[in-house]
Amino acid sequence: MTVMQAVETRISRRSFTNNPIPPALVAQLDENIAVVNKLGGLSIRFVQDGSGAFARLSHTYGLLTGVKSVISLAGPAEDPFLHEKLGYFGELLVLSATRMGLATCWVGGSFDKEYPLYQLHPFEKQVCVVAVGFAPKELTAREKIVRKALHRANKPMEALYEADEPPPEWFMAGIYAVSKAPTARNLHPTRFIWKESSVFVQNEARFSYQKIDLGIVKAHFSLGAGGRFEPGEGSVFIKENHQLAAWPFD
Ligand SMILES: Cc1cc2nc3c(=O)[nH]c(=O)nc-3n(C[C@H](O)[C@H](O)[C@H](O)COP(=O)(O)O)c2cc1C
Repeated sequence: MTVMQAVETRISRRSFTNNPIPPALVAQLDENIAVVNKLGGLSIRFVQDGSGAFARLSHTYGLLTGVKSVISLAGPAEDPFLHEKLGYFGELLVLSATRMGLATCWVGGSFDKEYPLYQLHPFEKQVCVVAVGFAPKELTAREKIVRKALHRANKPMEALYEADEPPPEWFMAGIYAVSKAPTARNLHPTRFIWKESSVFVQNEARFSYQKIDLGIVKAHFSLGAGGRFEPGEGSVFIKENHQLAAWPFD
């Protein structure tokens, strides 16, 4: 599966089978995690058995079932771009897991944040997790209900950007990749701006996961449009000749 096929086909899965992730794939995930930790100055970790963090919940909107392994998204608490970086690099990890045939779901709310997945360093902050594992081939009835509720108000592509002139094809390829991105409650709170031949992103709403969402959509735009962003709201996109300039893995 190519990176762009992963962008195209990834969806959140909320029901996992009890098939463990084989050691070779765990090793690959760990290798990729090491790459992004180095690039972003982060301390993301794969946790083989994080099921305890999902054991006590019963009424959250996106109740996940059968979760065993998680990717814990964490880094230095004082990093001003921590949430955005975890969104950006976390989504690259999600797409790499998708290419390995693994199912994923970003989880900001539907897990027990007090549950000690492992001992955090005093200066480290865990922002959210990604559930990862194998899912049944077809969506379960419950997954279909949650998905339908969240996708009822899908934003059309035109609502994801603004342009002061017809933007180039590569910009629209970036917006298409953004339309495929996961965002908390599927709100897509960001808007890409094409102005005087430059690209930057604005956050439309102020709510708790918006900076994670900002990082996620920047990752998708970078892969679709071929280039990269510096962190921060309003940072300008740098177009590269190499389509997958933002892809840090083999
Ligand atoms: C930061 C973040 C937090 C999320 N938290 C949850 C959650 O707590 N529970 C849940 O079921 N889904 C959660 N999601 C998944 C979104 O609901 C999902 O990405 C969105 O509905 C779009 O659907 P898709 O991922 O299938 O494209 C979260 C997504 C993001 C990006």
